Amino acid sequence: MRAIVVTDPAAGRAGMRLVERPRPDAERLASLDGASYGDVVVEVHASGFTGNELEWPSTWVDRLGRDRTPSIPGHEVAGVITSLGYGTAGLSVGQRVFGLTDWTRDGTLAEYVVVEARNLAALPGDVDFVAGAGVAMTGLTAWQGLFEHGRLVTGQSVLVHGAAGAVGSMAAQLARERGAHVIGTGRAAHRQAAFDHGVHEFVDLENEELTEVGDVDLVLDVFGGEIGNRSAGLVRPGGTLVSIAGSPEVRPVEGRTVDFVVVSERAQLNEIARRVHEGRLRPNIGRTVDLEDAVAAFTSTEPFSGKMVVRVRG
Ligand SMILES: NC(=O)c1ccc[n+]([C@@H]2O[C@H](COP(=O)([O-])OP(=O)(O)OC[C@H]3O[C@@H](n4cnc5c(N)ncnc54)[C@H](OP(=O)(O)O)[C@@H]3O)[C@@H](O)[C@H]2O)c1
Repeated sequence: MRAIVVTDPAAGRAGMRLVERPRPDAERLASLDGASYGDVVVEVHASGFTGNELEWPSTWVDRLGRDRTPSIPGHEVAGVITSLGYGTAGLSVGQRVFGLTDWTRDGTLAEYVVVEARNLAALPGDVDFVAGAGVAMTGLTAWQGLFEHGRLVTGQSVLVHGAAGAVGSMAAQLARERGAHVIGTGRAAHRQAAFDHGVHEFVDLENEELTEVGDVDLVLDVFGGEIGNRSAGLVRPGGTLVSIAGSPEVRPVEGRTVDFVVVSERAQLNEIARRVHEGRLRPNIGRTVDLEDAVAAFTSTEPFSGKMVVRVRG
């Protein structure tokens, strides 16, 4: 099969190569050593890659910390199940699915990927594969940040950083739907896009003061650093700072702080898929490229806003 691999952590995206790799087979693996109990093989139709994945240690090692290069990056998938390992009841060959794959195993920038069945959910027939791959990571991260870790409820206020970006645009829509007052941030050029994704107010971080926001019940921080530090002071007593950009340096004095890494949850994927199917959640796909053009696209400096999705199968 064709796959994009990386072999050298120091090379960054310039080290990405499109090569031929052996096609995985869940049943064969299971019969050899049981290692793939619970796995299915997915024929990848669309794949997502997160910008700083090559900096994650898990891109280079397996669960036991052993070198696993050449490794295949990309952990967001939408595709069709082609074979089932043992312990995968509930899924079937030919089923359309989407979700996230294991960080410490080969990923989805390939024609086939082995995935734990529990990490996948059914993709409705009228939601295309590009949309499915585009909302798996972004939708789950927003959902978990807002509702699971942030405990956002109707009537509360939330500051969503990067509200025109891949995760922020999902968070803005989901928070608005939940009945929260949504304040988005971003660059000056992002103002209209953020409003299109549902924010009630927008702070242009290039020209306006973050303190103008006042106190909020929840901050969803996608930046960290200096903006993250300033955001901690905006959390009202009893509120929460949720970060997806690592452990915050500054924490709210009288609030909770949570930093987390997204996990694939079938029930939440179902909620996301249902909203996309019903037109209540709009995927934010900034760019779509074919697998053969993906390496060039990943190393390009051409700006785009939203999620880049790789079309692996036409
Ligand atoms: N912990 C987790 O589980 C998890 C999950 C998913 C993502 N992440 C991380 O979350 C971060 C955001 O991911 P994403 O996919 O949403 O990225 P993204 O699509 O690039 O969104 C970030 C948005 O913020 C804007 N922005 C960046 N710096 C800014 C600044 N200084 N002032 C104003 N606006 C700024 C970006 O604009 P420009 O494009 O113009 O810079 C973009 O619109 C990444 O670091 C990613 O690795 C973590």
